[in-house]
Amino acid sequence: MTAHKSGDPTTLNRLYGRAKGKPLRAGQQALVDNLLPQIAVPLEGPVTSALLFGDDRPMHFEIGFGGGEHMAGRADMLPSHGFIGAEPFINGVAQALTHVAGDNGASPPLANVRIHHGDALEVLARIPDASLSFLYLLHPDPWPKARHAKRRMMNDGPVDMFAAKLKPGGEFRFGTDHDIYLRHALMVMQRHTDQFEWLCDKPQDFQVRPGGWPETRYETKARTVYGHEVWYFRYRRK
Ligand SMILES: C[S@@+](CC[C@H](N)C(=O)[O-])C[C@H]1O[C@@H](n2cnc3c(N)ncnc32)[C@H](O)[C@@H]1O
Repeated sequence: MTAHKSGDPTTLNRLYGRAKGKPLRAGQQALVDNLLPQIAVPLEGPVTSALLFGDDRPMHFEIGFGGGEHMAGRADMLPSHGFIGAEPFINGVAQALTHVAGDNGASPPLANVRIHHGDALEVLARIPDASLSFLYLLHPDPWPKARHAKRRMMNDGPVDMFAAKLKPGGEFRFGTDHDIYLRHALMVMQRHTDQFEWLCDKPQDFQVRPGGWPETRYETKARTVYGHEVWYFRYRRK
């Protein structure tokens, strides 16, 4: 592990936005009450493929899945892989559950998704080292003020943990539409070149959405409503 200054990476920072938004619709509340307990990540103990999925299938982990569109899209693409997502925003969890249940009509029910309603780093810490095939961090909360930079998910402590949890050859995907975050993230990743190889030969590699990277509602809005550019990064664990 690279030695860097960092805070305790497993402490959930103060939330950037709201933890709860509009009241859940009855159907969403029913999914939270009935489906979530069936597919929730256990609250303690190791988090392994065998425990969650009953076999040693490749594991994917998504930090802060928002409404869950990317996680559900990937899980639909790779039905024999296992997906774990963590999100503290209950409305996001409820939306993700509609994808898992197939209630939105966009995808069939998904048997290969497990959800944690809460801090991603708390769950990640319980995943044995060198277990993950893919790790996703898409449009993390920006915390744009310099004095809040330590609250950004992309920091040395969490990145060391990402490196530890990925298998050699595993992939870390990061996306952002926030230029301050972009600069910060590139600086952080530059300090982790002993752990990660940036899969990039030409500017298009980070300017154009790579295949197998479903767009979320958040990102569609960033592009189409706010006119933001979006940057995509793929790093291979060495
Ligand atoms: C800007 S949104 C992006 C959502 C989604 N990744 C997307 O691209 O559509 C950032 C998300 O990160 C979540 N988040 C913030 N801190 C988190 C943490 N410690 N663990 C898990 N998710 C977190 C927020 O609740 C929010 O849903």
